[in-house]
Amino acid sequence: MNVIGIAVSPRKGANSQTLVEQVLAGAKEKGSETELIRLSDLEIHPCVACGFCKSGHDTCAQKDDMVVLYEKIRKADVIVFGAPIYFARLNAQAYTFIDRLYAMLNPDFSSRLPTGKKIAIVLTSGSGELSIATPMHEYLKTIFGFFHCMDGGFIWQNQMFAPNDLEQFPETIEKAQALGRSIST
Ligand SMILES: Cc1cc2nc3c(=O)[nH]c(=O)nc-3n(C[C@H](O)[C@H](O)[C@H](O)COP(=O)(O)O)c2cc1C
Repeated sequence: MNVIGIAVSPRKGANSQTLVEQVLAGAKEKGSETELIRLSDLEIHPCVACGFCKSGHDTCAQKDDMVVLYEKIRKADVIVFGAPIYFARLNAQAYTFIDRLYAMLNPDFSSRLPTGKKIAIVLTSGSGELSIATPMHEYLKTIFGFFHCMDGGFIWQNQMFAPNDLEQFPETIEKAQALGRSIST
């Protein structure tokens, strides 16, 4: 299996990134090839709604780092998407990435990506309860549903204020590793 982790948090030691890394570690244990992609290390511009991808072209007009990411997503069997909750929604980097997935849809909104992929979702928050993460979980399932991705699992952890706060929740780290093992079969 080819498992890619997309970590959306901009900060070093981000808890959502660490959880993605733990999912990838579990997947590797089961023999999967894994790769971590940090969106903040890439140059990804917002969608400008130019219509290029819907008028005779099957990709985006913008030639930034999303070009490489489209290929990694195309080849992946499993995508692990890890993001923080900002103001009861995802952070800006997540939406820039999501909008650019528009180029992976045909004019009739059918998918240009191969089917059969799984999507695993990891979310972190501060003092927010599960009710703050659930709408974002549903939202992400809807987005990846456009590409017929199957539900590969969900992990959420709150009380994540400082980087590395996750160390106080070893059971969540174990849950992430177990998720990685389960998506690799
Ligand atoms: C701009 C901003 C807005 C935030 N809004 C919320 C929020 O609405 N609810 C919440 O529970 N936590 C909120 N947080 C806290 C983050 O969700 C939390 O620190 C999260 O763990 C960050 O993920 P990371 O460790 O992967 O960077 C916010 C943090 C920032 C920087």
